[in-house]
Amino acid sequence: MAKVKIAFVCQECGISSAKWLGRCPDCGAWNSLVEERSESPSNSRLQSLSVGDGPRPYREVSSDAAHRLSTGIEEFDRVLGGGLVAGSVVLLGGDPGIGKSTLLLQVASHLASSSRSDGPVLYISGEESEQQIKLRGERLGVKAERLLLFSETNLDNIISELKQGHPSAVILDSVQTVYSPKFSSAPGSVGQVREAAAELLYFAKSTGTPVFLIGHVTKEGNLAGPKALEHIVDTVLYFEGERHHAHRLVRATKNRYGATGELGVFEMTGSGLEPVGNPSSLFLSERADQAPGSVVVCSVEGTRPLLVEIQALVSRSSFGYPRRVALGIDTNRLALLLAVLEKRVSLALSSEDVFVNVVGGLVVDEPVADLGVVAAVASSFKERPVHPRSVLLGEVGLAGEVRAAQRVAVRVREAVRLGFNKIILPAGNLPLAEDQGSAELIGVRSVGEALEAVF
Ligand code: TYD
Ligand code: MG
Repeated sequence: MAKVKIAFVCQECGISSAKWLGRCPDCGAWNSLVEERSESPSNSRLQSLSVGDGPRPYREVSSDAAHRLSTGIEEFDRVLGGGLVAGSVVLLGGDPGIGKSTLLLQVASHLASSSRSDGPVLYISGEESEQQIKLRGERLGVKAERLLLFSETNLDNIISELKQGHPSAVILDSVQTVYSPKFSSAPGSVGQVREAAAELLYFAKSTGTPVFLIGHVTKEGNLAGPKALEHIVDTVLYFEGERHHAHRLVRATKNRYGATGELGVFEMTGSGLEPVGNPSSLFLSERADQAPGSVVVCSVEGTRPLLVEIQALVSRSSFGYPRRVALGIDTNRLALLLAVLEKRVSLALSSEDVFVNVVGGLVVDEPVADLGVVAAVASSFKERPVHPRSVLLGEVGLAGEVRAAQRVAVRVREAVRLGFNKIILPAGNLPLAEDQGSAELIGVRSVGEALEAVF
């Protein structure tokens, strides 16, 4: 007789407890424990992943780099670390309506029509009917022959279909909608999500089939369901973007088969997501050349340099307590840089409101953007535009010194490629940047020197 197990599972972190508690002892979330019953322990967690017999010598194990499968979308391949690895489980998270289903339907269509795959591609949807997916597919121009659509939420039916159908790739949209009848808890709860992920992981690893899972994110922007899901899968991708901008960014935050921080840029069009091959020019396309407070910096996302515009607006505060607003850069970082400007180059900012914005809804968290922020603020304060074809690079220290940056050569090359001809960078980086093209390179040691060079 199956033994019914009852546990109280925290919906935030996935820890389980024998009795109900008001506050999770592990993550500290209030009222997050939910009763979950299961008939028997999940057999997927009892299944073993090993296919061979015992340990094998290191040099006899072949690496799977050669088996990378192209998804047909170059931007997406790059985020995956150069293509899809057989047997990998990829989790794609993002806000509702951002384009997760669209992107993976495009990927499914490419995989199904590439001659390298042998079985059909299975697109399982727990959110939409086959007709709805077909309607979207028509917008996207999907014509693949070997693409199967399957509207199902029962995990047992999905697994038996996977075993019979021998698909060459599987997409599950979304992991929060499937449920296993073994658990009485609702779809989307920790137990259910973990069970679904574990079953699909076992399927992926034992058959070498790549599996994509779509995951919802919570209000706070974390993947809904347990954080544990991120540990189970091989690759975690986040789909970012703003509702009011057409561009979408896909970022890898965990990747067992490639670099993290890699960024793919897409644009949502009337016929699906289009890869943007030259994102720097996209983000700079609407720049007003002679506006004070506008500065271009170069940040590196993963392996790719990206030129972005930083804008600052400094205006006299009408309140006793001036406002400091930072969008796209860290607020504390801005406060620090303003203090440096005030103290080291005597800019009287203490009664000014300061607003800083990274254009295009991007987030720049590299300290190399410091010098750009400083110059943008100074430019707006003095009402003097920065030379429009200039790029600033460098981290600013508390003493007002400009510190060397990493990967300067790549940044300078990208700036030169897009027609920038005046590059202000840390003096320590000058030798590295020298033969990257025909631009005037100005090495600076302090914020004061940098501002002199800018104006
Ligand atoms: P969708 O992939 O359904 O989002 P998710 O699965 O992440 O919830 O994308 C929905 C949005 O994308 C919707 O607002 C309409 C828009 N869209 C386009 O602009 N063009 C298109 O070709 C498609 C298919 C969708
Ligand atoms: Mg969807």
